[in-house]
Amino acid sequence: VTAPAPAPAINPARYRQVLGQYPTGVCVITARSDTGEILSMVVGSFTSVSLEPPLVAFFHDRKSSSWAMLRNHERFCVNILSAAQEMICRKLASKDADKFAGVSHRLSRNGNPIIDGAVGWIDCSRYSIGDAGDHEIVLGRVLDLDISGDDLPLLFFRGGYGRFSPASLD
Ligand SMILES: Cc1cc2nc3c(=O)[nH]c(=O)nc-3n(C[C@H](O)[C@H](O)[C@H](O)COP(=O)(O)O)c2cc1C
Repeated sequence: VTAPAPAPAINPARYRQVLGQYPTGVCVITARSDTGEILSMVVGSFTSVSLEPPLVAFFHDRKSSSWAMLRNHERFCVNILSAAQEMICRKLASKDADKFAGVSHRLSRNGNPIIDGAVGWIDCSRYSIGDAGDHEIVLGRVLDLDISGDDLPLLFFRGGYGRFSPASLD
């Protein structure tokens, strides 16, 4: 019986290149502090998880300073950005202290910011946080959700932004 060959070391550049072949949508996690400060973070790692109970998830970098502030809040909103919101995405993915300034929004029933023009939003309460290597996986229990329009979502692919175009049927 021969022992299985050890797994090859994964080259980081190769990892990024191959995983960049998988497109994602772009979401903004938002919350509002008791003093009215708005906290936000751009994530591409958002996904639906479970219907019973209704759960969604995203992964955050353990080193993210945005998450360090967001994690103090048990409730948050996931805003699905539209293709027209690339500039908002770039602004909110920056490290500017007041990056949310000028982003028009309203508050959800749970007090979380819903960004105007987002194609959909999902208000959540934190369900769990689990280990995921240099990231953590955050599960949210869905409290409320809605669609805000029929715009196309913003997509992220091979390090760049784009939009969905239907595959040809012929
Ligand atoms: C399109 C896109 C997707 C991103 N997805 C994630 C993600 O899923 N998880 C994560 O931790 N950071 C992600 N980031 C980076 C965060 O938005 C990061 O917080 C931001 O760049 C600022 O860093 P800071 O949190 O240390 O302030 C993404 C950035 C962009 C532009």
